Amino acid sequence: MTHGEADNNVFDKTLEGITFGQKIKRGLNNDGIWEISVTSEGPQPHWLQGRPKHKLLAKFSKQEGPPGLPFGEVKALRMMGLLVAAGKIPYPHSDGTPLLRPAIIMEKKEGVALRDTNLFKFAPFEEQGPMMNHVLELMCRQVAQDAVDHKVYHLDNALTNGLIPVNQVPGKPKDFSESVKAVEIVDYGNAYMVMKETSYGELYNACMDHELALFELELHFAITTSGVNRR
Ligand SMILES: Nc1ncnc2c1ncn2[C@@H]1O[C@H](COP(=O)(O)OP(=O)(O)O)[C@@H](O)[C@H]1O
Ligand SMILES: [Mg+2]
Repeated sequence: MTHGEADNNVFDKTLEGITFGQKIKRGLNNDGIWEISVTSEGPQPHWLQGRPKHKLLAKFSKQEGPPGLPFGEVKALRMMGLLVAAGKIPYPHSDGTPLLRPAIIMEKKEGVALRDTNLFKFAPFEEQGPMMNHVLELMCRQVAQDAVDHKVYHLDNALTNGLIPVNQVPGKPKDFSESVKAVEIVDYGNAYMVMKETSYGELYNACMDHELALFELELHFAITTSGVNRR
């Protein structure tokens, strides 16, 4: 699958009826993420596609126009079943002036990043390493499974992109690996499409070893989700 014409038009339309909630912590590669809701007045906008199961987020693009728009992220989220819509929506300026800017609307995943837990913050240095390794391992299990199931390989295993269920965070560092069983993956800004039959084990190993991941990518995947005309 290459990056087709339809993929290049995903930010053209304007999405109406959005109200903004709480701002989510900003990442490096976006211009702000907000919780959103859709105004109850009038019929539901068609782009909402019925009633989504989860809360929604709007992630604003740093770039205003092509080729810097996150086309690949839209494609990866769609393949993952996490995309709600993409288009231009009013940027929540502090002065309230509406200004339409490209954004991706996606489902919100629940959980907390390891570094944002008090358990991690107050843990002695020698306890932090094993906790980080455990989260990385859980991320890579999920990444490998998603690559098998959805053909999307999430190549960004920064710990900030793995959300731990709040109720699994234990009271003591020594209980961490027993207690935390799975993480939710976020941030498909640097995802790849799996183009060749690749086993769970290969995908898992590639995820655990970043160097290997890049090497493996040459062999097994074509880059298509990160930008226009890249393959
Ligand atoms: N779908 C989501 N559900 C819940 N939280 C999210 C989601 N997407 C992003 N976040 C939160 O916002 C932070 C920054 O978003 P991210 O997509 O990682 O941005 P960047 O591409 O700039 O790294 C994440 O680390 C996470 O805390
Ligand atoms: Mg990120």
